[in-house]
Amino acid sequence: MTRKPGSTQRVLIIYFSGTGNTWLMADAIAREFGRNDIKTDLFALEQVQCKFDFSPYSHIGIGFPVYAWCFPSNMRRFLKRMPNGQGKRAFVFSTMQDKSWGSEALAARYLKRRGYKVISARAFLVVNNETIYYGPADPRAPWTLEMIEKMKAQAPGFVAEILSGKGEIERNDVLHVLASQLTGIAFDMLDGYLASRNFLILEGCTNCGVCERVCPENNIFGSLTWPQFRNRCLMCERCVNYCPEKAIVHPLHRIPYSDIRYRAPGYHPPRLRPPTRWEVMPDADVLPGLVAEND
Ligand SMILES: Cc1cc2nc3c(=O)[nH]c(=O)nc-3n(C[C@H](O)[C@H](O)[C@H](O)COP(=O)(O)O)c2cc1C
Ligand code: SF4
Ligand code: SF4
Repeated sequence: MTRKPGSTQRVLIIYFSGTGNTWLMADAIAREFGRNDIKTDLFALEQVQCKFDFSPYSHIGIGFPVYAWCFPSNMRRFLKRMPNGQGKRAFVFSTMQDKSWGSEALAARYLKRRGYKVISARAFLVVNNETIYYGPADPRAPWTLEMIEKMKAQAPGFVAEILSGKGEIERNDVLHVLASQLTGIAFDMLDGYLASRNFLILEGCTNCGVCERVCPENNIFGSLTWPQFRNRCLMCERCVNYCPEKAIVHPLHRIPYSDIRYRAPGYHPPRLRPPTRWEVMPDADVLPGLVAEND
């Protein structure tokens, strides 16, 4: 096969995805780079642990779901600690159900501060996975699948924009960026630290351990006896959506104990750690945090 001129390029995409929408988009983008003969490595944020070597890559892509008009707190930590980009090209994408305000522009500013040249930062509309305030989309509904296809269909345009070097940073103005920064910080403080401790476990829990294994923040322990929550939740709602018994709910649920849970088709969250009994309180630091090159 004749290699195209751009094939010396190599892309690294680091994404966080609670329930799979962002993973679907990351995958669609990676495939599109592949069609352009550009090798792309995809990593889930919770699997990127330390001293990640960015040097083989020509482009770094960052993807996240929008939470409260901003990015999740694990992504904020990562963006602040990324290795110095030294002018490396970067792009940002988010998935959302409605509005992201300046989330992508804010992420682009964090990247710029770390020395990256951000070519493009875009939000992609898809469906809701959030169970507490609005209720999630039905993953099997035709409308959901249609929205997913519409989102993925935008990958070629996005990649073309990145490769042309003439992309756009959406809503890159002070008002949007400030709104995202403020709501993001407020959300991290209020929802992340207060609301997340209040998850309820219903009697249907079979102590299967799935919630503990899939939690990206090691926020759940003791699931082989009775799941307990620490106070460092992202509110990604992965535990709520992946509990096979639908036994995790929240007192603030507007649609109490709805039967619908959202999991994007084909997505399997990384299984991070073995489940525990509550008697054996796991070491809080069993999962290494994100420690990047400059730390
Ligand atoms: C806690 C929480 C807050 C959310 N806030 C927003 C929001 O402010 N704006 C929006 O458009 N979507 C919001 N959403 C919806 C998600 O961004 C959207 O469903 C996303 O595609 C989920 O991606 P994932 O499946 O990769 O986790 C929120 C979802 C959650 C769980
Ligand atoms: S995933 Fe659900 S059923 Fe399994 S331990 Fe957690 S709460 Fe219980
Ligand atoms: S406790 Fe649940 S909602 Fe919170 S970070 Fe873990 S999986 Fe996500």
